[in-house]
Amino acid sequence: MRERFGDSFTINVPTFGRALVISDPAEIKQLFLSGPEVADKMDRNLGRVLGPGSIFALVGEEHRRQRKLLTPPFHGRRLAAYERIVEEETEREVATWPHGEAFATLPSMTRITLNVILRAVFGAEGAEFSELRELLPRLINLGSWLAVLPLPRGGIGWRRFWALRRSYDAIVERLISKIDGLDDRDDILAMMLQSRYDDGSAMSHRDIADQLLTLLAAGHETTATTLAWAVERLRRHPSLLRELVDEVDSGGSTLLDATILEVQRTRPVIDFVGRQVRADGFRLGRWTVPKGYVVLVSIGLLHDDDSVFPNARTFDPYRFVGVRPDLYQWIPFGGGVRRCLGAAFATMEMNVVLRTILRDLTLAPTGEPAERWRSRGVANAPAKGGRAIVHRRTARTSSASRRTDASTTP
Ligand code: HEM
Repeated sequence: MRERFGDSFTINVPTFGRALVISDPAEIKQLFLSGPEVADKMDRNLGRVLGPGSIFALVGEEHRRQRKLLTPPFHGRRLAAYERIVEEETEREVATWPHGEAFATLPSMTRITLNVILRAVFGAEGAEFSELRELLPRLINLGSWLAVLPLPRGGIGWRRFWALRRSYDAIVERLISKIDGLDDRDDILAMMLQSRYDDGSAMSHRDIADQLLTLLAAGHETTATTLAWAVERLRRHPSLLRELVDEVDSGGSTLLDATILEVQRTRPVIDFVGRQVRADGFRLGRWTVPKGYVVLVSIGLLHDDDSVFPNARTFDPYRFVGVRPDLYQWIPFGGGVRRCLGAAFATMEMNVVLRTILRDLTLAPTGEPAERWRSRGVANAPAKGGRAIVHRRTARTSSASRRTDASTTP
């Protein structure tokens, strides 16, 4: 479509109707900076299934109020407390990886990110941890289909969904009732229970349940899929891989941080973010967009634009070394007042997972062609699941000997 019509065009999407697709950085910036009275979340999104208290379901002032309450747990000092959980979960998972044979890393990444959210966000352990681990992927998977498909509310799909949701609510109530001593806890559930709106009121348990489910739906598969892409990319760039191992061994993180940015630029797992126009005749750059219209910001087209990122098709993490990406040009987390609330959490998590893998294992490079994209409902994953071959790193080898290892590993 871009080749035929340029950086902007309209398309007919079955569930959204006619929508305007944009990928010009100035128009994207204008849209992200427009107030919620001009353009806000799309009507048809995950909020339909996550519950009325979900941040995805809220607009305008209600949304702002909820964001203000939820932002502090995802930033600064709080994040450091979760690093240990991420490291432990990664160590536990990679200990099960076969050595010397190819396997898909995506299922492992999905287990790591699920366990991390259950521990860091839900503060779950014991029976509740196991029950949620089993129930939540089914609930989210069914919910993400129901959010977009026009199925009757009384039909079998919705009835099944509400049965799962009732089991989920009961587990969250149990989790809350078991908490004694909120002050000793670092998890986000405990912080939600303690937090207060500007008027001094607390969050209801129902809203907390909706919000926890939202964090899981938004943060679990997206992070896992990006990690699988990171493995896919690193194995195809052996000299970068060697440099990253050296950096991890010496305790640095500059190149790894840049690599994560570049993985997200070249393999954004969410294709687009959308806004519904709420004002009459919204003037967006060259366009006048009617009220009710959906505007889709194409993350893929923007990231792939040579005039924004020179040699955009080339995977080159060095473009981000010592450079902070422009938040209206590098947009895997969306932008504006609805930008991903968990962006800092996800970045910390991806950094810890990758550095733990590089510390404990040798990732074998490959000459195989790049993996293709495959949609998994919410996120776009590598078609073969980010296949890897790993070998145990026995001792802290020198860079020189590691260089030989990497180049001779099949
Ligand atoms: C690599 C991992 C992730 C990616 C690529 C990602 C991407 C996104 C995108 C594209 C949006 C929509 C932004 C917009 O409309 O402008 C979003 C929203 C959101 N994300 Fe993430 N996300 C990731 C991880 C997480 C994590 C770990 C959490 C929390 C644990 C999280 C929580 C949220 C929430 C709550 C929203 C809704 C924000 C709002 O509507 O105000 N995300 N994310």
